Amino acid sequence: MEQITLNNDVKIPQLGLGVFQIEDQKVLQDAVQAAIKDGYRHFDTAALYRNEKELGQVLADSGLKRDEYFVTSKVWNDVTTYDETKAAFAESLKKLGTEYLDLYLIHWPTEGYLEKWRALEDLYEDGKVRAIGVSNFEKDDLANLLTNARVKPAVDQVETHPYYQRPELHQLLTELGIAYESWSPLGRAQNGALQDPTIAAIAQAHEKSTAQVILRWHLQLGEIVIPKSTHAARIAENSAVFDFELTPEEMTLIAQLDQGQAVG
Ligand code: A2P
Repeated sequence: MEQITLNNDVKIPQLGLGVFQIEDQKVLQDAVQAAIKDGYRHFDTAALYRNEKELGQVLADSGLKRDEYFVTSKVWNDVTTYDETKAAFAESLKKLGTEYLDLYLIHWPTEGYLEKWRALEDLYEDGKVRAIGVSNFEKDDLANLLTNARVKPAVDQVETHPYYQRPELHQLLTELGIAYESWSPLGRAQNGALQDPTIAAIAQAHEKSTAQVILRWHLQLGEIVIPKSTHAARIAENSAVFDFELTPEEMTLIAQLDQGQAVG
């Protein structure tokens, strides 16, 4: 699986499995096992998703060594202070059954995020997490954070898909040296992008699915993607995106589909 080098030299597999809204233990277990079989080595969870314990269990049982996979978790909005953030991190580590996280994110720029960031910086400097970053931070939040930060965030994880492309944020993150990570890269299968005729025509030309074309488009923009699926066939499909390339013309055609429309 292709990797991206973050601004602190840590490598992250460019494609991971998102486990948002997979709470059922058996469903999660099947999805993660299928993903591992298909070569996924990056798993994206959060305290909010209530599945850290289950994910940790499947990874522990997988036979993979700890340094063979990459795990991200996120601190939720109900945590607002430095001490609470450290406690929330300890809780995530315990549930995931691991001694360190690869990436820990502030889930949303809600109350107290500067104080939360200080806790993340200390966890990072103590070697408990290999990289720290943010999620859902817009331009002003990033400016405020950077003015006050000791450690620059490694990533900003934000909603992005063909109907919500965020080119200005993309440009800004590139300038700042912060990796762009996309959540709901398929528009959560809710906004029609998977049925878009332009994308369907490109898919047909490459003998790929529309989902694969959308993921390939994200990858060629240099993004990290974490598509979610609970179906083994789709998990496999979503990982088979490293054996073809979209032309510059096809990239432009997809760029023209932007509607600035979030799914949320
Ligand atoms: P399911 O979990 O039933 O497979 P996103 O990652 O953008 O949030 O999208 C997740 C949604 O897209 C889920 O509803 C998932 O359904 C669906 N999905 C994931 N992969 C594919 C695919 N290859 N083709 C069609 N739908 C997909």
